[in-house]
Amino acid sequence: MNRIYLDHAATSPVHPEAAEAMRPYLTEMFGNPSSTHHFGRQSRSGLDRSRRSIAAAIGAAPEDIVFTGGGTEADNLAVLGYVRHHRPKEGGHVITCQTEHHGVLYACRQLEREGIEVTYLPVDEYGRITPLDLQEALRTDTLLVTLMTANNETGVVHPVEEFAAVLNDHPAVFHTDAVQALGKMDINVQTNGVDMLAASAHKFNGPNGIGFLYVRPGIQLDPLLFGGQQERGRRAGTENTAGAVGMSRALELSLEHLQERQENFTGMKQKMSEQLQASGITFHVNGSGTSVLPNVMNISFPDADVEQLLMNLDIEGIAVSSGSACTAGSVEPSHVLTAMFGDTPRSRAAVRFSFGLGTEPAHVEKAAEAVVRVMDRMKAAKL
Ligand SMILES: Cc1ncc(COP(=O)(O)O)c(C=O)c1O
Repeated sequence: MNRIYLDHAATSPVHPEAAEAMRPYLTEMFGNPSSTHHFGRQSRSGLDRSRRSIAAAIGAAPEDIVFTGGGTEADNLAVLGYVRHHRPKEGGHVITCQTEHHGVLYACRQLEREGIEVTYLPVDEYGRITPLDLQEALRTDTLLVTLMTANNETGVVHPVEEFAAVLNDHPAVFHTDAVQALGKMDINVQTNGVDMLAASAHKFNGPNGIGFLYVRPGIQLDPLLFGGQQERGRRAGTENTAGAVGMSRALELSLEHLQERQENFTGMKQKMSEQLQASGITFHVNGSGTSVLPNVMNISFPDADVEQLLMNLDIEGIAVSSGSACTAGSVEPSHVLTAMFGDTPRSRAAVRFSFGLGTEPAHVEKAAEAVVRVMDRMKAAKL
């Protein structure tokens, strides 16, 4: 069976050219970048080159890039590192929103345990918050605002530049989780006004276990890890040179093909919507009507048991995700969709289709056909 992978927002295959670029750093040029001998210098040079390439891709300077062990660590470093360094003796306030990734939400919960107040902004049924919502939530003691660029479940894109503009007259710094967005849309820290930005290689065809945090010059962070002075004292531990090399090559490739992929994926989404419409099954495209990443399509099938739907799609060779975390047989509705629709069939029966390297129109067409087949079967079984 030719299996079809439409779960690129969960993780994506390493681009063969990125894997090729990494290989020498795993085999011959394996030195510790802190070593002063030939092997160390080779590794340092690969690391430095990757840092320059990544910085250039987002309009930053190389010294603004802190390599981390992935997106979660980058988010944690921004949220915990910034607030712990700057918190006053009393008070302190952070603003985020209810649909953030747990890498941000749970870091905020940790700050609450440390005595910081956190505002979790609600979203509308499109997953949006407005600059005015942010403006109204700001307090004189707000230290940090953390709002994602694009949501991992729905692909909904936030107006990051407008949020940054709200903060022009306020001392709070602005962090954005761009883990799903980088490589899928244009991102430039010189124009978008953010102070910190988190990214993760495995979402754009780089290896798993490496990411980075962009930190605007002058911003001080408390490190999360203690040990060596790597990454200018902001992230202790021997650097992952091969990972950084793979990440930078993957990002270069993603950006080279950005426009072409955006157009192709938008066309595939449109086609899928039309196919489902023609079949007569009940579905809602979540986030439709607002700005959404080109490669993500989150669809609710309110008549379906989503666990059964996913299982049957897997049997049909289609790999997709639900927005729900299955724990011990019970399906917890996604916090993102619950924030958008409350605890309803629409939030409980959502499937995320996400496209990426190697996704072709025929794959999406087959996936839509499989959905219709499975839905019809499930309906017949109920009768
Ligand atoms: C929006 C977002 N933030 C953070 C993360 C965490 O990234 P990582 O898996 O590299 O820790 C993810 C991964 O799913 C994500 O989608």
